[in-house]
Amino acid sequence: ELKMKVMVAGASGGIGQPLSLLLKQNPLISQLALYDIAPVTPGVAVDLSHMDTPAKVLGYKGPEELACAVADSHVIVVPAGVPRKPGMTRDDLFNVNASIVRDLAECVAKNAPKAIMCIITNPVNSMVPIASEVLKKNGVYDPNRVLGVTTLDVVRACSFIGTINGVDPRCVTIPVIGGHSGVTIIPVLSQANPAPKLTDQSKIEALTKRIQEAGTEVVKAKAGGGSATLSMAWAGARIANAVLRGLKGEENVVECAYVKSDLTEAKYFANPLCFGKNGVAKNLGYGKLNAYEQQLLKAAIPELKKNIETGEKFVSK
Ligand code: APR
Repeated sequence: ELKMKVMVAGASGGIGQPLSLLLKQNPLISQLALYDIAPVTPGVAVDLSHMDTPAKVLGYKGPEELACAVADSHVIVVPAGVPRKPGMTRDDLFNVNASIVRDLAECVAKNAPKAIMCIITNPVNSMVPIASEVLKKNGVYDPNRVLGVTTLDVVRACSFIGTINGVDPRCVTIPVIGGHSGVTIIPVLSQANPAPKLTDQSKIEALTKRIQEAGTEVVKAKAGGGSATLSMAWAGARIANAVLRGLKGEENVVECAYVKSDLTEAKYFANPLCFGKNGVAKNLGYGKLNAYEQQLLKAAIPELKKNIETGEKFVSK
C-alpha cells in the first residue's frame, strides 16, 4: 500500500483552503502538507486535522519550513501567488508569481525530485516552462511530472454543456486543449459527449467564447473581490486525484493538462493525457478538429509560443 503525501503550496489562500478541504476528503492521501507564507497556516492545518478522514494534516509556514513541507511529496499542488494590487503592472505580477514558482521548483528539485507538480499559479502557460527549466537546471527534470492545471476549463465546459442539454454535467466529457488563458483555451466542442444541443454555428462560437472568458465572468461577478477560487479548488482536487490514481497503478485515468509537447509548434500544450505510475504515461493527442477549431488552434499557437518564451526567458536571465 503506497502511502501518498500531497503538499499544497499556497494552502492558506482563496484557492488553497478549499483545495485542502477537498484533498482532506481523498482516501488516497495519507499525509497532507499545507505550506504558505501566511501566519494563519498552522491554524488552517489544525482546523482541517479535526475532520474525521484518514489524511494526516501538517502545517508549514515561511521559507525556513518549505523544505520539510516539500520533502518526499508524491504530488505538489501549487496555487501560491499574489493577486494584482493597485499600482502593480502585469509585469510586476508576473515577476512575483514567477519567482514563487521558480523558488518552489528549486526546493522540489532538492527535496522531492520525483514529485509530480500540478501548477495552478497564473499565468499557467508561462509557469510550467519556468518550473520545467528550473528542474532541468538541477538535473531532475522529467516532462511527465510537470503539469499545468487546465482542469477548470474542462469543468466549465462540462458544466455549461450540462445546462444546455439538461443533463448531469458529470456525464459530459470534452477535451479542452491548448493553454489556460483567453484565446489559448480551445474547447473541442466537436468531440464533446454528448454533443451540445446547439442548432447553429454562431451558438457554438458563443459557447466557445464563454468558456474562454469564463474567468472574467467570475471576476466581474465578484466585483473587486478576486477571481475564481472555489471552482478552481474543485478542479485542482480533480487533477490531483487523477494523478494519485495513476500513481496507485490504476489504468485508463484520463484528464487534460498542460505539459511539454511536440504535437504542435508550441513546446507546451494541453490535451487529454493518460496518467500512470510516473505522472503522464501517455499523451493521447487531440484527435480531429473541425474547420472552426483549427482556426482557434491557429490563433492560439503564437500566443502560447510567446507565453512559453516569456517563462523560459525569466529563468535564463
Ligand atoms: N509561498 C507560498 N505561498 C505563498 C507565497 C510563497 N512565496 N506567496 C504568496 N503565497 C500565498 C499567499 O499567502 C496566499 O495564501 O499564496 C496564497 C494565494 O492566495 P490568494 O491571494 O487568495 O490568491 P488565489 O485567488 O488563491 O490565487 C492564487 O492562483 O489562479 C491563480 O491567478 C491566481 O496566481 C494566482 C493563484
